[in-house]
Amino acid sequence: MTQGDFRDPTLPCETRVELLLSQMTLAEKVGQMCQYVAVTAPESFGNADEDPGYTLSLAEQAELIRSGRVGSFLKVPSPEFANQLQTIAVSSRLGIPLLIATDAIHGHAMDLEASTVFPSPIGLAASFDPELLHDVAAATARELRATGFHWTFSPNVDVVRDPRWGRTGETFGEDPLLVGELGAAMVRGYQGDALSEPHNVLACTKHLVGGGVAENGLNGAPADVSERTLREVLLPPFERTVEAGVLTAMPAHNEVNGVPCHSDHSLLTDFLRGTCGFNGFVVSDWNDIARLHTTHRVAATRREADRLAVEAGIDMHMHGAGFFENVTALVETGELSSERIDRAVRAILLAKFRLGLFEQRFGDAAAAREIVLSPAHRELALTAARKSIVLLKNQPETLPLRGAKRILLTGPRADDQSLLGDWSREQPEENIVTLLRGLQRFTAAPSELEYVACTNCSDAEIAAAQAAATRADIVVLAVGENSLRNQRQRTSGENLDRASLELPGRQLELALALAATGTPLVVALVNGAPIASACFEAAAAIVELWEPGIYGGTAFAEILFGITNPSGKLPITIPRSVGHIRSYAAERASARHRSRFHAVQGEPWFPFGHGLSYTRFVYHSLRTTNVPSLARLLANDAVTIEVDLENCGAQAGEEVVLLYLSDDYASVTRPQRELVAFRRVAFAAGERKTVSFELEAKAFSLLDARFQRVVEPGTFTFSLGAQHLTSRIELR
Ligand code: GLC
Repeated sequence: MTQGDFRDPTLPCETRVELLLSQMTLAEKVGQMCQYVAVTAPESFGNADEDPGYTLSLAEQAELIRSGRVGSFLKVPSPEFANQLQTIAVSSRLGIPLLIATDAIHGHAMDLEASTVFPSPIGLAASFDPELLHDVAAATARELRATGFHWTFSPNVDVVRDPRWGRTGETFGEDPLLVGELGAAMVRGYQGDALSEPHNVLACTKHLVGGGVAENGLNGAPADVSERTLREVLLPPFERTVEAGVLTAMPAHNEVNGVPCHSDHSLLTDFLRGTCGFNGFVVSDWNDIARLHTTHRVAATRREADRLAVEAGIDMHMHGAGFFENVTALVETGELSSERIDRAVRAILLAKFRLGLFEQRFGDAAAAREIVLSPAHRELALTAARKSIVLLKNQPETLPLRGAKRILLTGPRADDQSLLGDWSREQPEENIVTLLRGLQRFTAAPSELEYVACTNCSDAEIAAAQAAATRADIVVLAVGENSLRNQRQRTSGENLDRASLELPGRQLELALALAATGTPLVVALVNGAPIASACFEAAAAIVELWEPGIYGGTAFAEILFGITNPSGKLPITIPRSVGHIRSYAAERASARHRSRFHAVQGEPWFPFGHGLSYTRFVYHSLRTTNVPSLARLLANDAVTIEVDLENCGAQAGEEVVLLYLSDDYASVTRPQRELVAFRRVAFAAGERKTVSFELEAKAFSLLDARFQRVVEPGTFTFSLGAQHLTSRIELR
């Protein structure tokens, strides 16, 4: 019998768990497996298109807490509300603290009146800078804990191969290596070194698995994928986040190959716990256990749905009625074992002890005033915006703007909060620098900058913009999507997928009208999911801002005027059109080897890894300096590759070195080029550097026809991003 008091902070967390567990009733144990929504009014849920189907009054929430029948809340409307819930929890029989969870996926942007909103994940990914993402996650964690929040449903490590998916902006794009490395960096940023600091939070690796390859790009639609795609592309980022120590996981809404993720034991237990060694807890997604009954129809009753989900490996139910009663009854009838319940509750309690919640469960308003939107966090948001912006096209003499020019700024995205992206509430105007405000800081109106509002692209607005364009030396057109969560006029985001990659509404018409004036056109894109527009041809320059966060306008203006050198690279391919899906970098050789599209170009507008700079990076050489035998490589030696490159321009800049590998001949087909390493490197003007990579056996391995991971002897060719340097090695 374990001795001691679970309240004793000097005891090991695992001991405290056992001491507490031994005192808990079945009802209190199952209560820990229940999470509820705290907001009491459905319209404030933020899932504007999602019927919550279940809300609790504050009195009902208090009763659940006092009786020990809830372990966590999400959609908690404020830090004060969180503290109120925790105060009630203190008075419950065992006083177990509540986990307060939220979707802080690019800052603590859903629950506070004001906070630091960083670029959306797709924009953060364009930096190819894991340390930046670590720092963004760490800053977000500090703002969460200071306000009494302990758990974020982030990172989203879905690999996206269908950019119609409205949630693409929440992801790190199409490449499993990039997605996994950036997801792992955010896990480390959120959780620190094993939750050892009072400003760490729980991270959550999601959505396991396949949302980014669902049919028609529709959120929650079936994902019908081959075993090879699952194992080579979709699952590795989850393995990588578990390696980084992630302590919670969330299944995907969708089914995979006929099995709903929420009832898939092979996924949630065999893969996640068996293969990956995950030792945290799994929380269901929104109403998705109920959907096993209502939508997927693999459970004839709600009770059966709850049993299937818990048996499959779900430890906590996110939201909705009935779970507590059903699971308690299932244990009493022996249809669910008490050992299974104890395993779930142990993981949940261990997280609470490791977070230190029994000692410090409340937010601290004084600390929050210092931490939220601190100067350091604001500076980080600006740095992240600078690094995330991708210069896609730049005809000579267009950007940067030099010398006094009469600039016309117009377009629906020029002066609104769409630059915040999804999973953010609107922020106080004084905390945001829109594109207009950014340009105003660098120009004198009206001699240098004229702004013509064009929020709805009405006939009158288009006419006014066109007239103004004839007076200007250059037009900056801000167009794109609006995925801001609570706005009814959203065009993208969760549960808003796209049947086209073209600019929504009359934005294309506006762009072409402006181009027709003959004044050079700079297209500034604000969007989460890729846009492929017919106006690209006419544009003299195209700047992809993604959803750059609160300081997007500052970063954009700095790039426009050459103060900041653009350095972002595309984390996802921009196809020629929706008819070209799927287009992605790691295609097989046969993807385009014979046929072609009739009458249209087949190549993407802009490929994965593309991004221009104002300076010129010259790659001088690519060479291998250590090539061990195959036996030594398998015995943990490594192949060393060196790249010599130089900044031959007059402006400092940062380059992302992308190292690709081609397996020249293999027993199964392989991607023509597979990203095996990347590194972001800063250069002064004229500086030359050697960048070195060490590649171990895994980089050269493949899953053979029987899905055994092997390294086959033979030749391999290294290559670089847009460069034509190659280096071949032979492994014998
Ligand atoms: C949503 C999303 C998930 C999110 C959850 C809670 O439906 O699929 O990513 O964390 O609900 O808001």
